[in-house]
Amino acid sequence: MTVASFNSVSLDPPLILFSVDRRSLSLADLCASDSYAVNVLEESQQDMSNRFAKGNGDKWGWRDAATDSCDAPVLLPDTLATFECEPYAQYDGGDHVIFVGRVTRHRTRSQGRPLIFFGGRYHTLNGVHAASA
Ligand SMILES: Cc1cc2nc3c(=O)[nH]c(=O)nc-3n(C[C@H](O)[C@H](O)[C@H](O)COP(=O)(O)O)c2cc1C
Repeated sequence: MTVASFNSVSLDPPLILFSVDRRSLSLADLCASDSYAVNVLEESQQDMSNRFAKGNGDKWGWRDAATDSCDAPVLLPDTLATFECEPYAQYDGGDHVIFVGRVTRHRTRSQGRPLIFFGGRYHTLNGVHAASA
């Protein structure tokens, strides 16, 4: 699923967090999973962001069957970074659940700029993208 609530938390141990709407179809799987991955999208990956923002959408039909050391499908193509995580903590976040993940492995690309979502629209570091979400 697409999340904008991703944040770094701690370096030692290496922790990240994100919050998930209690109505999300992915919530039960995330709660039950013993591993998952976070991909940071590059500025040209608006379509991918929109694809993963649709409940019941075809999130995986298009992808290469790429899995890594954990069972989660980690390798979205051409992303800026990937964090493989194991569950560390879960907190009540009102109508969201806050997931804290312990990073077990990560990859980053030295080139490229992030896709930014602000004020209901996608942006790049240089300005606003033409299309909205
Ligand atoms: C840019 C963007 C950021 C989003 N951030 C979050 C988020 O942080 N948490 C969340 O629960 N949903 C977020 N959403 C909405 C989910 O991606 C969307 O509800 C998705 O359909 C959930 O998929 P699922 O129902 O299959 O789990 C975001 C959507 C977009 C477009």
